[in-house]
Amino acid sequence: MYQKLLNKERKIAVIGLGYVGLPIALEFAKHFSVIGFDINEEKVKMMQNHEDPSKEVKTEAFKGKDILFTADSEDLKQAHFFVVAVPTPVDEHKVPNLKPVISASNTVGKVLKKGDYVVYESTVYPGCTEEDCLPLLEKNSGLNGGTDFKIGYSPERINPGDKKNTIATITKIVSGNDAEALREISQVYGRIITAGIYEAESIKVAEAAKVIENAQRDLNISFMNELSIIFDRMGINTHHVINAAATKWNFQRFYPGLVGGHCIGVDPYYLTHKAQKLGYSPQVILSGRRINDGMPAFVAKKTVKLLIKAGRDPKHAKVLVLGITFKENVSDIRNSKVADLVKELQDFSVAVDLYDPNASADEVKDEYGLKTVDKIGQDYDAVIIAVNHDEFKSWGVADYKKIMTVKPILIDVKGVLLDKPKDGVEYWSL
Ligand SMILES: NC(=O)c1ccc[n+]([C@@H]2O[C@H](COP(=O)([O-])OP(=O)(O)OC[C@H]3O[C@@H](n4cnc5c(N)ncnc54)[C@H](O)[C@@H]3O)[C@@H](O)[C@H]2O)c1
Repeated sequence: MYQKLLNKERKIAVIGLGYVGLPIALEFAKHFSVIGFDINEEKVKMMQNHEDPSKEVKTEAFKGKDILFTADSEDLKQAHFFVVAVPTPVDEHKVPNLKPVISASNTVGKVLKKGDYVVYESTVYPGCTEEDCLPLLEKNSGLNGGTDFKIGYSPERINPGDKKNTIATITKIVSGNDAEALREISQVYGRIITAGIYEAESIKVAEAAKVIENAQRDLNISFMNELSIIFDRMGINTHHVINAAATKWNFQRFYPGLVGGHCIGVDPYYLTHKAQKLGYSPQVILSGRRINDGMPAFVAKKTVKLLIKAGRDPKHAKVLVLGITFKENVSDIRNSKVADLVKELQDFSVAVDLYDPNASADEVKDEYGLKTVDKIGQDYDAVIIAVNHDEFKSWGVADYKKIMTVKPILIDVKGVLLDKPKDGVEYWSL
């Protein structure tokens, strides 16, 4: 397969062109002939015009690439190596929502031919590729997996907003249903990944590796968040404690914060769901999730306490919240915990101005029913730096002070201004 792809006798199709799918499709298109397929016609049109709907990929990256962007599944008939990168969210009960993966598997199954390859990149629980997706590929194609066609799993580890660690420079885990599949899949990815390929023992191992990377991060942050709740009662700052503790050689630095987005706060539920199905009720993983999900309420409550301490009636207070994206310097607002923070403050009857130069006001309105302001106002009783966008980091304490009333309160969720002088400002960070 690899040689045929390289000679352009065969094509690669990438199914789902979001944060993960588009960069990988463009990377493949430097060496192979690629079909980029997405069900969202509007997004496909933008990509045909060399525009990334997620704003992560620059126009230049589209130039000179051998790629056809399409929303027509008929075009997939020309492909022989399929890469599936559709979303894997959870529903309102935190249960994995496999609808996009199921739908993509049905689409691929309908165009699958003998000798083809299907590699899943979406983050799933161990077993999903072989137990949930493979039967759909077989049913729709009438072919036998393993003999008629091969499958594999290769998790994606890109980090949106990170310009240093990009697809090519992050070691890629690959796996396949047998030795031949592993070799071919490894070669295909090896062509685009400069950092190296790690061949996992099985598809399940590769699936599990991805999901624990994010569960580990979630848990480490939840420990820091719990410490932050404890240290707040003691009147000491968690960052100061971390700095002191980190002077020991084996202490690992993690920081408290709001854990949002579509990966860290979501993927652990894929693991816990599968564990529960197998009769084990995870405790550590889920308690970490509970702590992290409770942090917006903790920050809101702290803000209200500080307002009251400053003699303000929360009902008449005006607070500016800076940032709504799930993390710094990205436009992605999915699963933003700042939205929970704003709603908590509004539940205390606090008037909130929400400002984020990186986020689309329409998306914020559609997703959370929240209005953003185009311009920062004046006379705020408190300012909350919720997301560390570079723009907010470039302002000094004096700049924040200027837009606040006489007893300014600065809530610096991530502690970016912790070591700056804060004369005349009531300052608090997690
Ligand atoms: N975004 C990240 O940082 C990141 C990092 C590593 C892994 N992942 C994982 O990668 C997967 C994709 O995530 P993402 O952030 O790129 O999602 P995304 O929402 O940005 O993009 C997914 C794309 O798939 C399309 N799509 C949905 N259903 C489809 C279908 N049936 N057929 C074709 N296209 C379909 C959507 O229109 C969308 O454009 C998820 O499993 C995610 O957990 C994401």
